[in-house]
Amino acid sequence: MTKKLLRALGGEVMDVPPAWMMRQAGRYLPEYRETRAKAGDFLSLCYNPELAAEVTLQPIRRFGFDGAILFADILLVPQALGADLWFVTGEGPRLSPIETPEGVAALKPADAVHDTLSPIYETVRILSRELPDDVALIGFAGAPWTVATYMIAGRGTPDQGPAHAFKEAHRPAFDALMERITEATIEYLSAQVDAGAEVVKIFDSWAGSLKGDDFLRYSQEPAARITAALKERHSGIPVIAFPREAGERYVGFHNATGADCVALDNSVDPEWAAANVQVSGCVQGNLAPGHMVTGGQALVDEVRRIRDAFSGGPHVFNLGHGITPDADPDNVTLMLETLRG
Ligand code: CP3
Repeated sequence: MTKKLLRALGGEVMDVPPAWMMRQAGRYLPEYRETRAKAGDFLSLCYNPELAAEVTLQPIRRFGFDGAILFADILLVPQALGADLWFVTGEGPRLSPIETPEGVAALKPADAVHDTLSPIYETVRILSRELPDDVALIGFAGAPWTVATYMIAGRGTPDQGPAHAFKEAHRPAFDALMERITEATIEYLSAQVDAGAEVVKIFDSWAGSLKGDDFLRYSQEPAARITAALKERHSGIPVIAFPREAGERYVGFHNATGADCVALDNSVDPEWAAANVQVSGCVQGNLAPGHMVTGGQALVDEVRRIRDAFSGGPHVFNLGHGITPDADPDNVTLMLETLRG
């Protein structure tokens, strides 16, 4: 029997959609905090295949999700291309920033990423052995634009200002950077699929800050290239694209990229998305993560509203962005009981 998540990605309409959650392995779970403490810091956890597989499995055991997302981070690719990377507790990621065209020229070639990322492939191999038969294994990477915003600024930024400024000041170097990340991402995701990932997701968390032609050139087109390369190498492997906060540019994204599923953030109205985006293929989303903190009747009502809005087409239930550390695990249980009940 084909796994439920893969059936939805293939276009099947179901009474109860498959469900998983962005950042489902994370600090809101006491068992995650315990394993992370054992590993030391966050990056040591990412590069420890046994422990990374363990934290991937924890939310599957506790909640019975239909999908398990590999535990890693989108910023491992910049590190594998030669950036220094560290995480400051309570603040977030830091990288050695790319401030000049010379910084782009100094990056390693795309096929060098395997030297650094091979422990991640081992995590995938462990998971494909240990996951329950009905749970699909999701690999992932950051989209080139989102990864570039961190590489240029050296940290997360509210408006991606440094990346936009670099793009305007050094267009050829910016294009070379996008090209290098795109090639590295194809290498990385392809190796995840070889190791056992059954679907891959491309996270373009900052797609919403690209306007006009820039959106087409730096979000849509790289997603199309990565999707086409993976499908060609891996006989049509399903792809989920997440151009977060794309707004009305979610319309047509399936067809423009070849993605099997388009993930919607929680700023998108589900009724609107059913009529304008789901008509082109499977959609994923899009409960606001805040409901995992506040719970109650509002959570129940919103789960039902989203499920009903998307009930006429293929749908994967998820949040519109990652669950936050202050979320209550009981609200995750309530979300799934409401969805499945
Ligand atoms: O459960 C999962 O979803 C799988 C693992 C996963 C992580 N990060 C683990 C993580 C995935 C898919 C990501 C993606 C990711 N990482 C994105 C794209 C999705 C999004 O959230 O928009 C981005 C932008 C990053 C970069 C990143 N990693 C930031 C900005 C931060 C700091 C913010 C924070 O939440 O602390 C991280 C750290 C991170 N990545 C944590 C986890 C579980 C928390 C680290 C910890 O345990 O201290």
